[in-house]
Amino acid sequence: MHNSTLTPLVDVHLDSTDIERGLRDDVRAGLTSDPKDLPPKWFYDDTGSALFDEITRLEEYYPTRAEREILLRQAVSIIEIAGADTLVELGAGTSDKTRALLDAATDDGRLQRFIPFDVSERFLRDTSLKLAAEYPSITIHGVVGDFDHHVDLIPRGGRRLVVMLGGTIGNYAPGPRARFLRSLVSTMKQGDHLLLGTDLVKDPRRLVRAYDDVAGVTAAFNRNMLLVINRYLDADFDPTQFDHVARWNAESEWIEMLLRSRVDQTVRIKSLQLDIGFRRGELTRTEISSKFRREGVERELAEVGLEMTEWYTDIAGDFGVSLSRL
Ligand code: SAH
Ligand code: AVI
Repeated sequence: MHNSTLTPLVDVHLDSTDIERGLRDDVRAGLTSDPKDLPPKWFYDDTGSALFDEITRLEEYYPTRAEREILLRQAVSIIEIAGADTLVELGAGTSDKTRALLDAATDDGRLQRFIPFDVSERFLRDTSLKLAAEYPSITIHGVVGDFDHHVDLIPRGGRRLVVMLGGTIGNYAPGPRARFLRSLVSTMKQGDHLLLGTDLVKDPRRLVRAYDDVAGVTAAFNRNMLLVINRYLDADFDPTQFDHVARWNAESEWIEMLLRSRVDQTVRIKSLQLDIGFRRGELTRTEISSKFRREGVERELAEVGLEMTEWYTDIAGDFGVSLSRL
């Protein structure tokens, strides 16, 4: 039998060759288009994952605290309603807040398996090891993969509660978000539940502050993507020549993070044999972070065949967590 306390099982569907190939395609497409645009999954190398973890502890970054408050208050009820023997977490990171659910689920006695899924292998292995030691009564089965390619490779079987926390779903724009949700739903069966964390629309000043903290941690997180491109694609970005920008897009109701070129400059991306020109002031978008309203979440879930049965918020009403079933 597999001894999960010593070496938790980890399936790897993404190796460094896949990562390099994916990054090449995204960088070529994103930096030769106008406006320039890079997908946020490239933030999360070891440094980026550690910077994100630091962001979650910033005074300005309220979503993590608000969602933790909800989970601590509602975990027992969520676990009871879902009645799952398998918990799957998409974009697990450190699974810090998820411990509220794991505590409730292991007390309940029905949970047999936890499957953290993430693109960041080092963090996933680390998280899996820690959880295996903390929760010896369940099997920890990590999966390294990409939301857009490997969700169907997550082990099946059992009655599942799939969770996606932190507002990570908001890093998708509406079209790709519906496609992702549809692909996720196609892996679910009757009786399975989805627990989805969504940050809510609020005063734009608070939103912008959450994405442009005084200590500059989010700025370092944003610029880190340039270092990821340098490392994997042998490029010569000088991150000090780009400013961090966070702004509210009122029409789309999302925060966007961008990098603004401080000067006219040309960056050489050797492994793509590509020179990319940046005009002074030119913006490259690196992330959108959509903010939601309850009705919108309910509608988007219904559109992919999920019925929202519970809606929880923190006391201040900053963050929403929905529980839905197929
Ligand atoms: N769930 C945690 C972490 C959120 S950060 C929380 O609520 O705090 C987003 C996480 O999603 C990171 O751990 C990142 O590595 C992962 N991630 C980002 N894009 C991904 C993708 N395309 N496929 C799989 N994981 C991804
Ligand atoms: C992971 N994701 C939900 C975070 C967010 O708030 O959109 C990533 C992040 N970007 C900047 N700060 C945090």
